[in-house]
Amino acid sequence: MGHSGHDGQRHTEHAGHKFPVEQMVKLDSPERLSLLPIDAVVTLSGARPGTRTLDVGCGPGVFTIPLARAAGSAGHVYAADILPEMVDACRARAAAAGLAHVEVALSTENDVPFPDRCADLVLACHLLHELHDPPLFFAEMRRLLAPDGRLVVVDWEKVETGIGPPVDKRVTAEEAATLLETNGFVVDSRASVTWANYLLRARAAARPGPRTAPAED
Ligand SMILES: C[S@@+](CC[C@H](N)C(=O)[O-])C[C@H]1O[C@@H](n2cnc3c(N)ncnc32)[C@H](O)[C@@H]1O
Repeated sequence: MGHSGHDGQRHTEHAGHKFPVEQMVKLDSPERLSLLPIDAVVTLSGARPGTRTLDVGCGPGVFTIPLARAAGSAGHVYAADILPEMVDACRARAAAAGLAHVEVALSTENDVPFPDRCADLVLACHLLHELHDPPLFFAEMRRLLAPDGRLVVVDWEKVETGIGPPVDKRVTAEEAATLLETNGFVVDSRASVTWANYLLRARAAARPGPRTAPAED
């Protein structure tokens, strides 16, 4: 069920390899979720009761709903996607699950319409290879993260999995770590979700404060 070779299908103008909306149902497929178990992603992400989470590139909400359950009503889940069909599907899922603390919005490539520092946790799952402009995107993630927040990136290992994006379009964990570290993040840890998916946890690098003149004797 790979989504390679989809020329001719509708997808947005891009530099990254965008997910074709026609294949939305494949995001919930048993093949995908056996390589990307939802519980493992939620547990490794660190989401817990009260967490304010942003699921960026949420798709139809495969992780949004479990993240909202993990956060409970004391928490909040923001979700954003650049495709209206994904936003509608995610909103419908949250409504069907009766989760009032899920807020879903249509975003643009590097602009997510939520407040500064609104998220203790940002999840970017299977998104890196789709980005057009990583420096702008990661600057936006730094704006959205609370001071002690964590950005969690989950992505495919660069190995044949039979599903998912073409192997040559994937971003390895090492490449993802470099991307994060050259864009204002410090990687704290790496974990394997399964043999097919890695997870990186990162925090925003401390910004250099204003330079002060050395004290005089
Ligand atoms: C492969 S799907 C993964 C969906 C979901 N994260 C999951 O793992 O089930 C990638 C999603 O990211 C969205 N996307 C791509 N670039 C984006 C961006 N710059 N900002 C927000 N969403 C984006 C796509 O429209 C698509 O719904």
